Formats: sequence, structure tokens, C-alpha cells
Amino acid sequence: MTARPCASGSSAYLRRMDIAALDLAAPRRLVVLTGSGISAESGLPTFRGGNGLWDGRKVDDVATADGFAIDPKGVWAFYSDLRAKAAAAEPNAAHRALVAIEERLGDRFLLVTQNVDGLHQRAGSQRVIEIHGSLWRSRCSRSWCRRGPFADRTFPIGPPVPLCERCGSHDPTAYVRPDIVWFGEPLDESAIWQARLAMLAGKDDGLVFLAIGTSGAVWPTNTFVRFAADQGADTISVNLDAPENARSFKSVIIGRATEVLPALLGT
Ligand code: OAD
Ligand code: ZN
Repeated sequence: MTARPCASGSSAYLRRMDIAALDLAAPRRLVVLTGSGISAESGLPTFRGGNGLWDGRKVDDVATADGFAIDPKGVWAFYSDLRAKAAAAEPNAAHRALVAIEERLGDRFLLVTQNVDGLHQRAGSQRVIEIHGSLWRSRCSRSWCRRGPFADRTFPIGPPVPLCERCGSHDPTAYVRPDIVWFGEPLDESAIWQARLAMLAGKDDGLVFLAIGTSGAVWPTNTFVRFAADQGADTISVNLDAPENARSFKSVIIGRATEVLPALLGT
């Protein structure tokens, strides 16, 4: 890969025409982190920036447990709309490039996604960790409920807000909620450790860490690049504009995921 050095910081900024396919010959490993930008070309909105989901909307209203307690109907209207949009969307060439490289690498590949849209799985990805949950699962809003998350493809809008089958009969506000990690809620520790272990496993095998379509604004996923770098990884960001954590990457490729990934992964 040829690089045009960046004026500030130590990252190299690459243009589309500078990209050569990565060497992923055995025993090299690839850990990929995706964000909403990879689904943008499937027609789904990203979170930040103009026309993003958080643009002009108070995150606290739709993405916190407090917001849900105040207005469960409004929160379900928001997520039902997202479910409808995700159901209507199709995986794109970037999702498919990740499927193709996974077929080549097998267990030397892991995909960690912040996305809740399910498009990676629909494209055919197998080794996927959904670190922020899934639009396609719901769970009880009561933390003590013993009913676990369950598959749910419904679109609840307006009253009645669905009640938990287990608690709803004796607690009239034990509503069902999306199984998505909201602000202020802990991530699944085992998911984080699965990602870190995959990076540790690559320490002596030539790890490549690739972040695609994520602004690097959200912790702890925005620290994965530094964890990967500590394992000696080649770290690459593919994004429409420089992510907030750009300086932590060895290479930053500015471009559309659907154009960059097939070339970068040689698929
Ligand atoms: P953001 O909206 O913060 O960032 C999306 C990034 O994708 C931006 O930096 C864009 O430049 C880039 N992008 C847009 N179109 C692209 C394309 N075609 N090709 C490549 N890049 C493109 O979304 P995330 O980083 O995913 O959490 O946000 C992280 C988390 O914040 C989300 O998972 C969500 C949100 O709050 C939860 O809902 C729990
Ligand atoms: Zn319950």
C-alpha cells in the first residue's frame, strides 16, 4: 500500500487509488469493527452529523432507560420506524466483502459491530458480535425479570405498549423494550472480552484491525484501535471523513465503504 503522509499526527491518509489488497495470508488475523456508516449505502441513517438519527433529537428521549420510562410509546415509535427501515434495506457490497473475506479466513476473522440492523447476518456473516444489541430482539424492561431477550419482528406503535408476558400481569408498567444497549447502560462484558481475545490471539500472527463507518465517538469501541495497536496490529480506518480517533490509526482511508472494501480485502 502506498501512503500519502498526513500533515498532522502519525496516521497516513490514503486515497482510493492508493489502495492495494491487504496481505491476509495465514496465520494473519483480521478483526473488524463496523458502525452505522457501513449501512449508509443500504439507505439506513447514521447517528451523527446532518440528517443523522441524533440530529435535532434528544438522545435522552429515545436511547436511555429514563426516556423509556417517561414515554414508552414514543420510544417504541422510534424503534418501530428503525425496524421498518432495516427490514426494507438490503445488505450492500461492503457487507458482502466482509462475508467473502470471512469465507477465506474462517476462524482468523471476527466481526464486531455496533450496528443493530442485522444486515451483516443477512449478508451471510457468521462470526459476528453485536456489541450494542439488536433491533430484532426485545426484552423485559425490569432488570430482575427472568425472561431473557427474545426474537421480535413486531412494530409496536401507540398504545397499548407491549407488556412482559412474565411480569405484566402483576406490574402494569413492566413493558417490553428493545434489546439495545442505551446510554448509561453497561455493555455485555463477555462481548468486549471476545473482541479483545481475538486481538490478543493475533499478537504473534500479524493482526489487522479494520474500523469501517464509525465516527469513533463512542466508548469503549473507540479504544479497540489502541488495544489492537498494543498487539502490534496494522490499524486501518475506512470512513467518509476522518473519525474522532483518527490519530490512533496507522492508515486512514477516506472513501465509501462499498468502494474501498472490495479493493482493500481483495474480494
Ligand atoms: P456515527 O453516526 O457516529 O458515525 C458514522 C460514520 O460513518 C461517520 O463518521 C461517517 O463519516 C461514516 N460514513 C457515512 N457513510 C459512509 C460510507 N458510505 N462509507 C464509509 N463511512 C461512512 O455512527 P457510529 O460510529 O456507528 O449506539 O455510532 C456509534 C454508536 O453511537 C451507535 O452504535 C449508537 C450511537 O449512539 C447505540 O445506539 C447504542
Ligand atoms: Zn418481565
